[in-house]
Amino acid sequence: MTTPGPTRYDRMTYRRCGRSGLELPAVSLGLWHNFGSVDPPDEARAMIRRAFDLGITHFDLANNYGPDPGTAEETFGRVLRRDLANHRDELIISTKAGWRMWPGPYGDHGSRKYLLASLDQSLARMQLDYVDIFYHHRPDPETPVEESMLALDQAVRLGKALYVGISAYDPQQTRDAMKILRELRTPCIIHQPRYSMLDRRIEDGLLEVLADEGLGCIVFSPLAQGLLTNRYLRDIPAGSRASKEHGALRPDAITDERRAQLVKLTEVATARGQSLAQLAIAWVLRHDTVTSALIGASRVSQIDDGVAALDQLAWSDDELRAIDQILAAKEPGPASRSVAQRA
Ligand SMILES: NC(=O)c1ccc[n+]([C@@H]2O[C@H](COP(=O)([O-])OP(=O)(O)OC[C@H]3O[C@@H](n4cnc5c(N)ncnc54)[C@H](OP(=O)(O)O)[C@@H]3O)[C@@H](O)[C@H]2O)c1
Repeated sequence: MTTPGPTRYDRMTYRRCGRSGLELPAVSLGLWHNFGSVDPPDEARAMIRRAFDLGITHFDLANNYGPDPGTAEETFGRVLRRDLANHRDELIISTKAGWRMWPGPYGDHGSRKYLLASLDQSLARMQLDYVDIFYHHRPDPETPVEESMLALDQAVRLGKALYVGISAYDPQQTRDAMKILRELRTPCIIHQPRYSMLDRRIEDGLLEVLADEGLGCIVFSPLAQGLLTNRYLRDIPAGSRASKEHGALRPDAITDERRAQLVKLTEVATARGQSLAQLAIAWVLRHDTVTSALIGASRVSQIDDGVAALDQLAWSDDELRAIDQILAAKEPGPASRSVAQRA
């Protein structure tokens, strides 16, 4: 057992999650990539410990994170027991179900059967009694939304989740789900959509719905899986997500045009005294409705770099306009492989 740094709460900013009683760190850490059985366990452990030392109290998982699916939860459980066992009450741990996890008709989508069985499996892998947030990972057009929402409600009533959330629901699906959850008095406090300078869809209605419904918003892939960093400015480095067979970032998304755009964004970042990654994080946090930027990392230094974005969150109109112009210049196409949809 190691002792987390005594200054861990000095630097982090915590933001209220919608109209709930819960506050989340402005930067949270997700374990989609780099924490599976194929990844170096010492680096995974070091990243979790460093994150906690920087005040990152929130770790986001899902049943299928790995590869192999489920192994990110196992890695996290091991580090928790080894290093953070005495700090469970300082942590917000989330997991999700909604994408394919096991064969047959009960290992995917949104049935009560799948969601509750998957939550039990996640708790067993992490060796936890409860998670803080349990999400439905994606809307399921085949299952009545009442059924999926009642399963989330049941998870809370069984004491297996303190709060629930939804991910990738569009504005109308969010309204429909919230109507049911409000009637049930289920503590649904958060939505998890994708949002970055390269994917601004939540600006077309979802952010307004979330503010109206009093839901918090934790945005995933704020760095567009590493595109909005210095990682790909010259080439596709060995070990990067775009270089990996199981990585969800398509190498063909890194075109000359995209690079030119990233270089211009880097100039804006430099003028603000930031790295491109820091610019990207500060940019998503410019909305009050956005509670937390949910980043991923493959090494400790990336977490340090990301958290330092919080040193400069102020924006001038000129800076925001310059970014809009750079982003409007072209639409280079989707940056994710189809497996990215399964995150
Ligand atoms: N709800 C959903 O459907 C859904 C979907 C996707 C993700 N998520 C959640 O969101 C989390 C974050 O997603 P993401 O990993 O795609 O986020 P991201 O922050 O956009 O990308 C993370 C990647 O960017 C690179 N990176 C991070 N910080 C860097 C820095 N300071 N400098 C240079 N490169 C840096 C690393 O790439 P390298 O690995 O190449 O070093 C890292 O793996 C996931 O772990 C998961 O919890 C949820």
